[in-house]
Amino acid sequence: MYNPFSLEGKTILVTGASSGIGQATAIECSKLGAKLIVTGRNAERLDKTRGLLQGDGHQQILAELTDAAQVQALLDQLHEIDGLVLCAGKGMTFPFVFCTRDKFDDLFDVNYFAPVELLRLLVKKKKLRKSSSVVFVSSIGGNGSYNYGNAIYGATKAAMNSTMKFCAKELADKRIRVNSVCPGMVNTKLIQNGAISDEQQRLDMERYPLKRYGEPNDIAYGIIYLLSNASSWVTGTSLTIDGGFILK
Ligand SMILES: NC(=O)c1ccc[n+]([C@@H]2O[C@H](COP(=O)([O-])OP(=O)(O)OC[C@H]3O[C@@H](n4cnc5c(N)ncnc54)[C@H](OP(=O)(O)O)[C@@H]3O)[C@@H](O)[C@H]2O)c1
Repeated sequence: MYNPFSLEGKTILVTGASSGIGQATAIECSKLGAKLIVTGRNAERLDKTRGLLQGDGHQQILAELTDAAQVQALLDQLHEIDGLVLCAGKGMTFPFVFCTRDKFDDLFDVNYFAPVELLRLLVKKKKLRKSSSVVFVSSIGGNGSYNYGNAIYGATKAAMNSTMKFCAKELADKRIRVNSVCPGMVNTKLIQNGAISDEQQRLDMERYPLKRYGEPNDIAYGIIYLLSNASSWVTGTSLTIDGGFILK
C-alpha cells in the first residue's frame, strides 16, 4: 500500500524508549515496518516497550547514557542504523536564584552532553548509514517559551537546537539529515513528578489554544515524519508540536 511515511527496511535506535515519548515513538515506528533498537535504564520498563513492538527482529539494550562505559557497550552491540531518535532526558524546575552550577551540570549531562556525544560516536564509528535521519527531542523551552523555573531545562534544549543545526550542516555531505522536534507539555511521567499540581495543570492547559496537553503519539508522529523518506529534503529544522502554545 502506498505510504510515503513508511519505515519499512529501516533500523531505528530510540533512546528514552522505556517511557513516554520515546516509548510511543518506538511502538509507532514498529507499526510502520521499522526494526527497533530500544534503549533506556530501567529493565522492567524497557521490557514492557519491547513487548509492545510489532513485528520481530527488534533489540533492547540497557544503558545509562551519561556513563561512557555503558555508551561504549551500547555502541559495541549496534550494527548500522538508518534512524536515531535522541529522546532520553529529564526535567528540572527551579527559580533562577536556586540555579547553581551543580544543577546546570547535572541537567546538561543528561539532556545535552549525552545525546550529543552519542551522535558524535555514532558518526565517528560510521554506524549511521548514508541517507539516515537523526531527530533530537528538544522542547519549546528551548525555542521561544520562557516559563518560570525553566532556566536550566530551557538552556539544555536551546543548546540542543543550536548543535542540531551545526550537525545538519556538517553531516549533509554524508547525506545524514539532522532535525529536532520541540514539544509543548506532554502527558508523560516527566510532568507527573509533583512539581505542578493537577489544578495548576488544568489551568495551564487553558493557555493552550487547542485546550489540552499533548499525548506521546502527537510527538511520535512528528518524529516519524522526520525519520521517513517523506522529509528527505528537510534538515536543520525544529518542528514545534505544541497545540499552538508559542503563538500566545
Ligand atoms: N513530557 C513533556 O512535557 C516534554 C515536553 C518537551 C520535551 N520533552 C522531552 O521529551 C523527552 C522524553 O521525555 P518524556 O516526557 O517521555 O519523559 P519520561 O516519560 O520521563 O521518559 C524519559 C526517558 O528518558 C530516559 N532517561 C532519562 N535519563 C536517562 C539517562 N541518564 N540515561 C538513559 N536514559 C535516560 C528514561 O529512562 P528510564 O525509564 O530508564 O528512567 C526514559 O526512558 C525528554 O528529552 C524531554 O525533555 C518532554
